Amino acid sequence: RMSFTIAIDGPAASGKGTISRAVARHFGFEHLDTGLLYRAVGQRMLEGMDPVEAAQALRAEDLDPETLRTAEAAQAASKVAAIPDVRAALLDFQRAFARRAGGAVLDGRDIGTVICPEAEAKLFVTASAEVRADRRWRELVAAGFDTRFDDVLADVHERDRRDMGRSDAPLREAEDSTRIDTSRLTVDEAIAAAIAAVNLAR
Ligand code: C5P
Repeated sequence: RMSFTIAIDGPAASGKGTISRAVARHFGFEHLDTGLLYRAVGQRMLEGMDPVEAAQALRAEDLDPETLRTAEAAQAASKVAAIPDVRAALLDFQRAFARRAGGAVLDGRDIGTVICPEAEAKLFVTASAEVRADRRWRELVAAGFDTRFDDVLADVHERDRRDMGRSDAPLREAEDSTRIDTSRLTVDEAIAAAIAAVNLAR
């Protein structure tokens, strides 16, 4: 087959980023973290730009993971992500990436449901809110941030609420996706489960 698309969706801090990178490496596919698109637009909005214009003007070079990793960019991302014209402006880029020759992994919230409903393999990666907040909190502490667990948990709940509650492309599990709950899995176990699920679809 010329192209093979793996769609990986799930809530914030579920482990889908780590799994997506490992799955892409395993199969030799290119990987797109679609959250970066919304983070870049959110960042522009924080700088005073109109989010729809920012989405229309976005270029691949703007997707620097280092500068877009902040909690502020994440919250701004989930706000601009509720604007239908922002989502529409980012659609073609994602679909073109998905169809690239040699295979692609896209991770986000609506890849299996809206962006690539015909994806050959679909995974839904999830974990309890407490486990997700705990992982994010440990990352922040390890990076030297003085953060309270309760604040991180509140942040996770707020983004869940926004991502699942919006009317345009809300976060939900595609009917034909394989669910991987990473709450009680090590990173290696979660990656192995994801690779096994993709192999079943090949
Ligand atoms: O995955 P990440 O946490 O980087 O995504 C940031 C925000 O971007 C999410 O909370 C969500 O609101 C939005 N997003 C989205 N659709 C995607 C990817 C991300 O709405 N496919």
